[in-house]
Amino acid sequence: MASDYPGSNNNSQFKLQNIFNVENKVALVTGGGSGIGLMLIQALAVNGAKVYICGRTEEKLERVAETYGQDISGQIIPITCDITKKEEIASVYDQLASKEKYLDILINNAGISTATFQTESSSAEEMKKNLFENEDATFQDWDDVYRTNVSSCYFMSTCFLPMLQKASEAQHGWSSTIINITSISGQVKFTQHHPQYNASKAATLHLTRMMANEIQSNGLTIRVNSIAPGVFPSEMTAGESGENQKSHIPKEKFEGKVPAARPGNDRDMAGAVLFCATNTYLNGEHITVDGGYTLATGR
Ligand SMILES: NC(=O)c1ccc[n+]([C@@H]2O[C@H](COP(=O)([O-])OP(=O)(O)OC[C@H]3O[C@@H](n4cnc5c(N)ncnc54)[C@H](OP(=O)(O)O)[C@@H]3O)[C@@H](O)[C@H]2O)c1
Repeated sequence: MASDYPGSNNNSQFKLQNIFNVENKVALVTGGGSGIGLMLIQALAVNGAKVYICGRTEEKLERVAETYGQDISGQIIPITCDITKKEEIASVYDQLASKEKYLDILINNAGISTATFQTESSSAEEMKKNLFENEDATFQDWDDVYRTNVSSCYFMSTCFLPMLQKASEAQHGWSSTIINITSISGQVKFTQHHPQYNASKAATLHLTRMMANEIQSNGLTIRVNSIAPGVFPSEMTAGESGENQKSHIPKEKFEGKVPAARPGNDRDMAGAVLFCATNTYLNGEHITVDGGYTLATGR
């Protein structure tokens, strides 16, 4: 059958508010105090979702709630938390479970990028000097990056499974979702001068698909997808944010580097997250939003 309503006109189903509806959905976004996390929060909360945001710095979260949580149909609610600590993840779960019946959308967005290295070398000795002997090249650094960018996505996701599953069971036609914010850095063959970061993002891309598979294999209805951004303004990429927690990257820096000739912006990320959150036929996939970066560089 081609339509649920044979012989009748179902145009109303195609209205934006029906396709991309996040009204009254309950969401949790990690790393919500700046950059991409803030874009994700606004996209959801401005359109009626109740969004819990977590990060380690209380002031950033409070400023986001104060600046962006007024006069909107949704809500922004800060919870201070370090998502690299299992007991703190469990505490966030308990806090949410005491207030909400279920969780519709979990976005694992918190991430870090640490030391950079010169990869260009004219001999094996020089390459060893840059990548092995450099005092910043440590197992600890790799562990720190993996802990935040990979392991925390795994533990956040596994911790929140019961609340996510309840959301799918309670709402006919809805399936709850985990969205991992990965990166084109995990897709390209270059290290972009931070091999540990790029390897971590590749791991999270694969983790996304494995988790999607394990969850569906167990008969649970929780979709797992990732958004792989190109370059967007954030504290990570711009080095700072302003009073409103927003960051800026000059457009000129991108002319000739990305087909779109600019960094990504709020609208680009908003469209991607609303699509991922609401498209209940999307599971185990990666949505790359990069202005054509990987098209130009290859993967
Ligand atoms: N911006 C880009 O161009 C780009 C491109 C591709 C992918 N990404 C990814 O996008 C995600 C967001 O990064 P961003 O660029 O928006 O950078 P950002 O502005 O630095 O945001 C990262 C957020 O994560 C939080 N965070 C870090 N460690 C945490 C921890 N242990 N527990 C809780 N929160 C933690 C930080 O807050 P606190 O320090 O206060 O905890 C911060 O708010 C990251 O996963 C990043 O890898 C970014």
